[in-house]
Amino acid sequence: MQPVLEYIDKNRGKFVTDLVDLLKYPSVSADSKFKEDVQRCAEFVKARFETAGLKAQIFPIKGHPIVFAEYNSPANKRTLLIYGHYDVQPVDPLHLWKNPPFEPHIDGETIYARGATDDKGQFLIHLLAAESYLKAGKELPVNLKFLIEGEEEIASNNLEHFIKEHHELLKADGVIVSDTAMYGRGIPAITYGLRGIAAAEIKVVGPDKDLHSGSFGGSIANPVVELARIVAKLHDDNKHVLIDGFYDKVREVEGWEREMFTSLKYEESEHLRKTGSPSTVGEKGYSTLERVWARPTCEINGIYGGYAGEGSKTIVPSWAGCKVTMRLVPDQTPEDILAKFEKYVHKIAPATVKVEVKKLGGAKPAIVARDNFMVKACVDALEKGFGRKPVFIREGGSIPIVNTFKEELGLDTLLLGFGQQDDNAHSPNEKFSLEDFHQGIVTVAHLFGLLGHGSRA
Ligand code: BES
Ligand code: MN
Ligand code: MN
Repeated sequence: MQPVLEYIDKNRGKFVTDLVDLLKYPSVSADSKFKEDVQRCAEFVKARFETAGLKAQIFPIKGHPIVFAEYNSPANKRTLLIYGHYDVQPVDPLHLWKNPPFEPHIDGETIYARGATDDKGQFLIHLLAAESYLKAGKELPVNLKFLIEGEEEIASNNLEHFIKEHHELLKADGVIVSDTAMYGRGIPAITYGLRGIAAAEIKVVGPDKDLHSGSFGGSIANPVVELARIVAKLHDDNKHVLIDGFYDKVREVEGWEREMFTSLKYEESEHLRKTGSPSTVGEKGYSTLERVWARPTCEINGIYGGYAGEGSKTIVPSWAGCKVTMRLVPDQTPEDILAKFEKYVHKIAPATVKVEVKKLGGAKPAIVARDNFMVKACVDALEKGFGRKPVFIREGGSIPIVNTFKEELGLDTLLLGFGQQDDNAHSPNEKFSLEDFHQGIVTVAHLFGLLGHGSRA
């Protein structure tokens, strides 16, 4: 172990350079304009695995390519499947970035760039930990398989199919994912719950073109007004979602869990600072942590229609639309919730306009084991890496493929996050702490060591 730790310390600066190189690729999966850049990023990742001493290949699938890398030793060791994503979210609004999103900027111990925390900085930790063993002349204590995809930020729609077709290739004893956050500065966390997601669009259509509001206003329905009324009926005044049957399958927060959440240090003022919002709101009867981690939501992501340019324009607009995502908790499923959403919107829609609901799919929520061999080793590894034991948390975000690992491969997932909640993931000025990056590499090196000591099940 000692030579590995020395190697990590000696190469602290070089590892940051590696991160900078990776962050320069504008691998935005959502925007077809960046298709070539996504491809180039995949090639860079593959090459970087090879430099580290792993065998790597690119799988050109229907969507953005998958990078697969592995290290196998002849000895009968445990095999870990490490999942991450090299794609990133779009960068707009660009003018709010203090530095260009794909020109990584280092300020003290913080690196700024799109993808820094989500998820390039985080999956790179595992690659560098593996490399440190191999370059320090030490045998890796575990066999490793890396599955680094390019479509997580667009819901991993092609990955399930890939997994179904590659059971043998992906055979392992457990999955590790670093794509979540710590609980706070210096407070490592193991995440055991993620919310799922269900996405939809509503379109409200009135007249077949924009009309003069003087000649026609007051005589026909205004689609923007009718859409606003529909949106307003999604929640009651207590922020309870009104979709019929929305809560039917929701597993209530259990007593032990409520106690555990309450025992975590939580400051409302910190939450407000992170969000920049003037106040917190949410479903009545639940704490902020419960609302974000263990309660479902129905959010409007965007609403549009009619004239939004300079000055005024006197029209009755022809149509209006909005995008909706609902965060799901066990045991809700996207199919069931989308069916209920569609039914409810049609129920409350007035007959004076045409209302269309488009269902865009989603991902199931996930609860992962809190007591398997990976969790046990991880608690100790975090203590070595960060000097304290982790807390157990849930998170409000989604990693669509986590359920598939269990359902298709029978594998538990360990969610070991090194980000921070205020890393500005999906926002302008995304960042990642270089200290957490370094300590993450140390932690994962220990984790590999500890997982190697156990006997294979
Ligand atoms: N890394 C996040 C998931 C995440 C977010 C975990 C917040 C913990 C806290 C992931 O890259 C992500 O953003 N997922 C998307 C999935 C969606 C596009 C289907 C999400 O949650 O919005
Ligand atoms: Mn991510
Ligand atoms: Mn993300």
